[in-house]
Amino acid sequence: MTHHPFPPGFVWGAATASYQIEGAWQADGKGESIWDRFSHTPGKIEQGETGDVACDHYHRWREDIGMMQELGLNGYRFSISWPRVLPNGRGPANAAGLDFYDQLVDGLLAAGIQPYATLYHWDLPQALQELGGWGNRDVVHWFTDYADLVSRRLGDRVQHWITHNEPWVVAFMGEWFGVHAPGGQDLRRALLVSHHLLLSHGLALEPLRANAGVAAQLGVTLNFHPTFPASERTEDQAAARRQDGILNRWFIEPLYHGRYPEDVAELLEGAMVEPQAGDMAIINQPGDFLGVNYYTRMVCKAGSDAPLRVETVQQRGEHTEMGWEVYPEGLYDLLTRLQRDYAPQSVYITENGAAFHDQLDTQGQIHDTRREAYLREHFLQAQRAIGAGVPLRGYFVWSLMDNFEWSHGNSKRFGLIHVDYATLTRTVKQSGRWYSQVARQNGLVV
Ligand code: FCB
Repeated sequence: MTHHPFPPGFVWGAATASYQIEGAWQADGKGESIWDRFSHTPGKIEQGETGDVACDHYHRWREDIGMMQELGLNGYRFSISWPRVLPNGRGPANAAGLDFYDQLVDGLLAAGIQPYATLYHWDLPQALQELGGWGNRDVVHWFTDYADLVSRRLGDRVQHWITHNEPWVVAFMGEWFGVHAPGGQDLRRALLVSHHLLLSHGLALEPLRANAGVAAQLGVTLNFHPTFPASERTEDQAAARRQDGILNRWFIEPLYHGRYPEDVAELLEGAMVEPQAGDMAIINQPGDFLGVNYYTRMVCKAGSDAPLRVETVQQRGEHTEMGWEVYPEGLYDLLTRLQRDYAPQSVYITENGAAFHDQLDTQGQIHDTRREAYLREHFLQAQRAIGAGVPLRGYFVWSLMDNFEWSHGNSKRFGLIHVDYATLTRTVKQSGRWYSQVARQNGLVV
């Protein structure tokens, strides 16, 4: 048995997002979001499910903080629902919405849990969508005003802020592939949206800094899939590189180097938007930390003519319920590569975890050994990366509890805590109990 300690002060957390857990979609003056609209549109979500109730966290947050305490977490990453605090996206604030997050933050701090707040985890106010949503350049100011409002209220207590969660998914899954809200299928618009997301990140840093103070840590969360060629063939290597550009470099390069990756921009040809003067300087402010979401890798092969669609090759070995290959080494590769190419001041894994088909035994317990193994192997790779010099400060497992998994509805369970959607009963899984030992010992014994 070897002890694998993590650095002192390491944050062991779990992550969630507003639309996926809160429910209460119309409670206390909340406005409609694009995810409310999308999930209420027939055919968009498996089984026609919605996040109307989800885990009902809006009403059960006290119990949920209690469970975090039971798990021994010292960090919790959640997102703020923009239409809950600003029902029309701008204009008058909803006092009840702000109060909700205010109480949540107080509750977390009283439980010894540091809050990590994400401003945008995909639930744009529908009222702003009607005005063009992320495709209307004015959105960057609406977002900045929203960041100002929320950080004025919470900035005295919330010291870690994440502007955006996975802008890649917002732009491409939401505006080009059409599988996420708002369901767009327009590449040109997806690129415009990605530019506005980046710009809004840069502009929001100023009010966040002003309201949360000089010591506050500000950052953005990006999703990454390390890409590998399916063979040594030059064409496959080119395919992997192309996919790396679109998936992994498209957002980080402007943030850290102040420019879009040239090889990708070339591929996009006429679809690419011309940034306005000064935009790239605003975007070229990554903040104090990089949030990394990692789930799997991608093995690519040449073959498809569509420049942005690369063929991926299914690997042997273990896959999660999402169909994602379990590939822990990818986390080490990714973290060391990001350090080499972009040198972020500090890094958090803001999401990592696995959906598996959980079964309750006769006592109502869940023995999710595969999830436990998944996490263990990824923690070990994270620790290896720390050993190689990566300034990794914390790890947020996705997710605290089973929740509404976007277009998959409730069918994919990622939680450390099981949720019975009929009764909303929460039950800590075996992986959750195991994780609490890791958090308490600040490391693993393997
Ligand atoms: C990420 C999302 C998160 C969750 C996980 C499984 O892309 O940020 O909300 O759905 O995937």
